[in-house]
Amino acid sequence: MEKFIARAKTLSKVSIDQHNTAFRRFQWPESIPEDDWWFSPDALTIAHSEVESNFTEDQKKHLAKWECINIFSLNNTGELELIQEVSRIMHEVELGEAREYLHHLIDEENQHMWYFNKFCNNYVGKVYPNKKFQLKKQEYSKDVDHFLVFARVLIFEEIGHYFNILNAKDARVNPFVREINEAHYQDEARHITYGHRTLEQLAEKALANESAKELIREELEKSIAINIGALYNPTAYRDSGIKQGMLLREKLLSDPGRINIHEQKMLRGVKRLLKRCGLNLMEEVL
Ligand SMILES: [Fe+2]
Ligand SMILES: [Fe+2]
Repeated sequence: MEKFIARAKTLSKVSIDQHNTAFRRFQWPESIPEDDWWFSPDALTIAHSEVESNFTEDQKKHLAKWECINIFSLNNTGELELIQEVSRIMHEVELGEAREYLHHLIDEENQHMWYFNKFCNNYVGKVYPNKKFQLKKQEYSKDVDHFLVFARVLIFEEIGHYFNILNAKDARVNPFVREINEAHYQDEARHITYGHRTLEQLAEKALANESAKELIREELEKSIAINIGALYNPTAYRDSGIKQGMLLREKLLSDPGRINIHEQKMLRGVKRLLKRCGLNLMEEVL
């Protein structure tokens, strides 16, 4: 615990030193040119799939615009949920002084929510609605509840990180979009570090018996399926001019190249961490 508290203090210090940069950080352009890449072609949901070669560069660019809006919308709505859930438990979770960092986490997520929401509204005039979190709230013990909150946050953040990294480093992407991804990447790297340490702290009590373990495993597998499913948004496909978006979604969700990306790139870190905590989640296999 002491090492964890020291680490949380260091993370807090970085947050304090950089405080409130997001509201001042960006020069918001009037518009994002239509023929720019709004998202890295490598980050598209068709990337590395069997259908990728059916798309022309122009079609990919259209898709990139609406997948940018989809991911930014998911960030926006997911961060709202995160803030609600973390706020709900922040004064009771057993993390000692390391709890103080949660104030920075919430503060930073609030800033992210602001810029993702503003981006979508400024440049396309809408945010895609959240269909992710219609899970019925169940009654759990406190230990299970707290572990689930942080594990769900981590799943959401690690998937988001995959997109931050690809877009921030891709020189083809519009510079403003890259800048936003870079800013988000910097904050999220700290959140993910904190999330890993937190789950290690909470694991022993939360996973103390087999029935709790089973319950947590089931809940997290559901969360993963919802988070991955939300990336393949039929409305974004339709907005980008693709007919039969539902069909494309189904195809991509079972495409071997995509499953490989889910397992090896998006979920690898979180599944490894959970395994270290004593929880083996199902691997998506063909
Ligand atoms: Fe965020
Ligand atoms: Fe975060």
